[in-house]
Amino acid sequence: MKRIVIVTALLLGIAPLLLADEGMWLPSLIRGRIADMHAKGFKLTAEDIYSVNQASLKDAVLLFGGGCTGEVVSPEGLVLTNHHCGYYQIARHSSVEHDYLKDGFWAMARGEELPCPGLTVSFLERMEDVTAAVLQGVAGDAPAAWRDSVVLARSGDLVKAACARGAGLTASVEPLYYGNQYFLFVYKVYRDIRLVGAPPSSIGKFGGDTDNWMWPRHTGDFSIFRIYADASNEPADYSVTNVPYVPRRFFKISTAGVREGDFTFIYGNPGSTQEYITGEAVRWIGEVADPERIALRDLRLGIIKSYMARSQELRIRYSSRAATVANAWKKWQGESLGIRRMKTVAAKKAYEVRFAKWASASSYEGVVERIDSLLRLQEPYDFARFYYQEAVSQIELASFAASQVKILSEDPERAEASARSFFGQYSEEMDREMFLALMDRFNECVPEEFKPAYFKEQMDRYGSVAAWADAFFAESVFADPEQAVALKKRDLKTLREDPAFRFASAFSSWYRKEVLPEYQRLSGEIKLLQRDYMRGQMMMGGDRDFYPDANLTLRVAYGHVEGYSPSDGVYYTPVSTLKGVIEKDNPDIFDYDIPQSLRDLYAKSLQEDPAGVGMGTVPVCFLATNHTTGGNSGSPVINADGDLIGINFDRVWEGTMSDIVYDPDYCRNISLDIRYLLFVVRELGHADHLLNEITIVN
Ligand code: ARG
Ligand code: GLU
Repeated sequence: MKRIVIVTALLLGIAPLLLADEGMWLPSLIRGRIADMHAKGFKLTAEDIYSVNQASLKDAVLLFGGGCTGEVVSPEGLVLTNHHCGYYQIARHSSVEHDYLKDGFWAMARGEELPCPGLTVSFLERMEDVTAAVLQGVAGDAPAAWRDSVVLARSGDLVKAACARGAGLTASVEPLYYGNQYFLFVYKVYRDIRLVGAPPSSIGKFGGDTDNWMWPRHTGDFSIFRIYADASNEPADYSVTNVPYVPRRFFKISTAGVREGDFTFIYGNPGSTQEYITGEAVRWIGEVADPERIALRDLRLGIIKSYMARSQELRIRYSSRAATVANAWKKWQGESLGIRRMKTVAAKKAYEVRFAKWASASSYEGVVERIDSLLRLQEPYDFARFYYQEAVSQIELASFAASQVKILSEDPERAEASARSFFGQYSEEMDREMFLALMDRFNECVPEEFKPAYFKEQMDRYGSVAAWADAFFAESVFADPEQAVALKKRDLKTLREDPAFRFASAFSSWYRKEVLPEYQRLSGEIKLLQRDYMRGQMMMGGDRDFYPDANLTLRVAYGHVEGYSPSDGVYYTPVSTLKGVIEKDNPDIFDYDIPQSLRDLYAKSLQEDPAGVGMGTVPVCFLATNHTTGGNSGSPVINADGDLIGINFDRVWEGTMSDIVYDPDYCRNISLDIRYLLFVVRELGHADHLLNEITIVN
């Protein structure tokens, strides 16, 4: 029926023009997209999404900590986000007696909710185009340094004025479109946030790194917090007298279920994208930077994993480190492959030819060539930069030496404890393997003229990385736990000659003096030209819609539930269920070892169901086409009626090039189905009192 209507509409030429699902739109300008959202199924208005006059959905969305999103789901300030976003808070409250990471945590009464000092949540009060105020009287050809100083000063004034209008406010002026526009963002920041619930990691991290960035996915990636406020509902430091925050708006939860094709809307804080860079910039990322960084992480992961395979104890000890290394490693692989598969470099170059034609004899003439020639100057500095970050900085003994020297000179009381905590997790054997692998590669891959003098001296002196490593670990006092914990302030003088300290300080001064300044100088120049190029691209127009690159400000991304075909002969359907969790369940594989209580529950449900399905149909995760990135973790996934159907937590790795170029065939975000959260809270957490607070609609 639906198809007939669409076909008829097409024949009559009255079909609404459906735009692509790509894009991260500014909520205050969503009017420009609302017709397309309606055509795709959304039923609310632009004012329902964002309003400064009345409560709107934006009042239920928050920046969780410094880099995730969360949403309010009850009139008493209950907040949902991801398990991996709440991870640090869950871990800090865990001990041997109460291992909340392992066993989960459920506050059974308000008094049991755990304070999380330092954690904040920020609500966007309003956003406002302040371009005119910021750039008033600044000519297009004004000298860059002067323009920057004017922008900085005026932004400072706007921020000050905005913050003066109420308690607990912060604000910032952010450039959009590389500084062709400026927006003021005003936030209200709450700082008494308490941990309310978290599933065991065997649910919240189910699949671990094996399944990270992958479909089919079965991770219950959620945690629950509550915002507290003072008696007048205003932000306050932690106090026992604080009361649950009363939000202007909270999400109702829909249990009606998701089907392929359903409209989905993600409201959150995507961190960073670069959709408007040149073909040369894409070539550098996809063909050099990503593969090089992947190779460096391959080396590290290989070593870490070989240690993890030795024993259960070592596996636990290194699992979070392996997770950190593996996360971007896998993302870059998808990005680099995606860029190649989409032939983005060639596509951008072809676009640049058209742009050059359009720009000829205008002030935009030659801008791409100028950007590209600066990029080529910058590339070797970028290369050195990530060799510093991904290789040199990974030698633990050197980092430890540098931080101990700092502690001994600034806060010597702390030195012994910090040394003990370091040796609690340090393996010299593993660090030495890292040294050999990473320094060998540094020697091989970093061009001669970029190697620091210190590096060359050491190589001349020892003849090989292996001999250098022997001396490095044998001669450093930091490698000897007994001596290292006993170091005192008076030892500082000799410590500055220590090989581990010398390694850290020589490389760091090389990085700070010979790599970073030139890298940043060129970045500044490129950004200026990129501003012109961005404006030119928007003026030239064409078949593309221009949304500003992500910068951790609130955005709307809308799309629909859809599977994808990762390769020939394979189609992934978009919904996963508890049946799949049970299929993966394996007590011998840490990532797939589910709680025994879930196993029992499932088995019982099968017995009680004559059809033998039991809880097998409980939904767990789903895929959609929303354009998201890091920072969107924890974002509410909203249906056509504005109700909550899921929590975003990942993308599929085959689509991670969406930070640079979006492909409707491959780019999928992964969300937790909100019904899995309800299931876990009720059946495993037995925390029904939390469910009584929320509003469920069908
Ligand atoms: N890939 C997701 C993100 O970028 C989840 C990361 C946490 N999970 C993990 N298994 N390491 O944040
Ligand atoms: N897991 C990511 C986050 O923490 C989201 C995944 C992505 O889209 O990059 O924000």
